[in-house]
Amino acid sequence: GGTPKKLIVPKRQLSMLNPDKKKVTIIYGTQTSTSEGLAKAFYNEAIERYEKVQFKVIDVDDYAVDDDEYTERLKRETYALFFFSTYGDGEPTDNAARFFKWFTEGEDRGIWLRQLQYGVFGCGNKQYEHFNKVARVLDEKLAEQGAKRFVPVGLGDDDHLIEDDFVAWKELVWPELDRLLRDRNDKTTPTPYAATIPEYRVVFHEKPLPPVFGRSLTNRRGVHDANYPIRANVAFKKELHTPESDRSCTHVEFDISSNGLKYETGDHIGVLCENQIEVVEAAERLLGLAPDTYFALHDTKENGAPLSGPTLPPPFPACTLRKALTSYADLLNAPKKSALLALAAHASDPKEADRLKFLASRDGKDEYAEWIFASKRSLLDILEAFPSAKPPLGVFFAAVAPRLQSRLYSISSSPKMSPDRIHVTCALVYEQTPSGRIHKGVSSTWMKNAVPMSENKENYTWAPIFVRKSNFRLPADPKVPIVMIGPGTGLAPFRGFLQERLVLKESGTELGSSTLFFGCRNRRMDYIYEDELNNFVETGVLSEISVAFSREGANKEYVQHKLTQRASDIWKLLLEGAYIYVCGDAKGMAQDVHLALQIIVQEQGSLDSSKATDYMKDLQAAGRYQRDIW
Ligand code: 2AM
Repeated sequence: GGTPKKLIVPKRQLSMLNPDKKKVTIIYGTQTSTSEGLAKAFYNEAIERYEKVQFKVIDVDDYAVDDDEYTERLKRETYALFFFSTYGDGEPTDNAARFFKWFTEGEDRGIWLRQLQYGVFGCGNKQYEHFNKVARVLDEKLAEQGAKRFVPVGLGDDDHLIEDDFVAWKELVWPELDRLLRDRNDKTTPTPYAATIPEYRVVFHEKPLPPVFGRSLTNRRGVHDANYPIRANVAFKKELHTPESDRSCTHVEFDISSNGLKYETGDHIGVLCENQIEVVEAAERLLGLAPDTYFALHDTKENGAPLSGPTLPPPFPACTLRKALTSYADLLNAPKKSALLALAAHASDPKEADRLKFLASRDGKDEYAEWIFASKRSLLDILEAFPSAKPPLGVFFAAVAPRLQSRLYSISSSPKMSPDRIHVTCALVYEQTPSGRIHKGVSSTWMKNAVPMSENKENYTWAPIFVRKSNFRLPADPKVPIVMIGPGTGLAPFRGFLQERLVLKESGTELGSSTLFFGCRNRRMDYIYEDELNNFVETGVLSEISVAFSREGANKEYVQHKLTQRASDIWKLLLEGAYIYVCGDAKGMAQDVHLALQIIVQEQGSLDSSKATDYMKDLQAAGRYQRDIW
């Protein structure tokens, strides 16, 4: 008999079982992993600062499978931080598109997030028209739906130093989180945070396993994307500029006849290009390791348990150092400050270590901005400038060199004409940096140097690729008139449009009028696809082509000038229901063209400026004004 014993639980465990344990969710929407990187850096710092709080960091696409689950989950959140990038024409990233549409455009849900306190940090670029639009809209919509903002929205500018914006925002966040998350009875002062350098466990193999390209996997939606690309061979390549031009633009055709990929006119292709061999050899030399060093990265301990310390990006498959540096390491962009700290920790010369630490420090902020960022010093340049810094591979790939990212291009063919090939039109990035070195774009240099199957049947170039769906689409009814505006490589998707129309026409479909505004420097140098365009005019697929040559006469002539000259025709077409398409540079051209169109609407339609703005907005909302800009 006797009385049942009271269950005694040690105090410490009690707090662990405590259902009231505070939880913070960190959610990211990322395209080229900037937001993901910042979200994870934030997480790593937060878990050190608040040991008693439960943090979770998650891709917004993995957060919930559908709208109902989004609702259920958000209802249960009490503290959340959102790291969201803005992409393209003020749009959310691919992984965030579903959530963003549901959360910001869906039905009116009223005030339903009262329990939630939140902060938003955005990654954007000030050069673009809709700077951090996604973060700003998300921040507003959260507040509208009842959530309480505990820190002003952070607007990171990737055109300048986004790391500095992040640090400045974090300085506003920590005091608020201290207030929200720390026990009122907790009188201890938080330990100052010293970032631990992330590091993989590295296993070196004696003999290389046979190379595998085990990448025919697809993502959760059953499609290939940046994480699940598929191999495509380069079938054909040609230079589009004449020898008179001092620039270069490459036409590349990827063979998709046997990999099962499908695309639609107006889609984008993502290409995982590689570093050039000179760049890779320089990096091998600077790291002091043999190119055939064969190794595997692990983010787990030998027993499979996760490594303690900061979260790591998923490792790439085991390979040689040559392959790792060729395919996975971004060596030509400016190193992040966290990369400088990792290098400092592995510099044998204390002077070099000090200088690296200084460049990464608050005092060295201006020096970093000037000597690294503005001077466009790449990671490779920094390795060269600090020869004693030789990080081990586990540190190099976790903390020093970011992953090489895929690049997106507007596809310049139509599957109606070219079902087996995806065409790309790629201008070479080749510029002198302020300190006199040459900066070459990884992807465009790769395209230019690709060896197509048409030139070498055994030793040709291939790349992992994927197709990214777009909303850039011809009108469903081919009789609707279209106006296409695309200078330079902005011509790409319109070549696809015209190919599609040619096929339609040949099969007897009646076509509405089509007008193309193209721009280049000089007819003799960079009038790309000139013969094809003339052919489209001859066959009646293109009703009219208007070309602005910017460097032929005494005056610069741009596409927007040509548009303005044709104001009354454009207005007439708009009245007939025409669709307007703009493709190309988002920083200058697209904004100038937008203004020109708005003025045409205002003047020709005798509208005041706010009515003209509304008119443009309505066009856009109706899908009659579409932009594919970058
Ligand atoms: P430029 O190089 O002489 O300045 C394709 O790149 C064409 O677009 C070139 O003729 C280029 O002219 C032109 N271009 C440059 N900036 C532009 C802008 N803001 N609007 C329209 N066209 C532009």
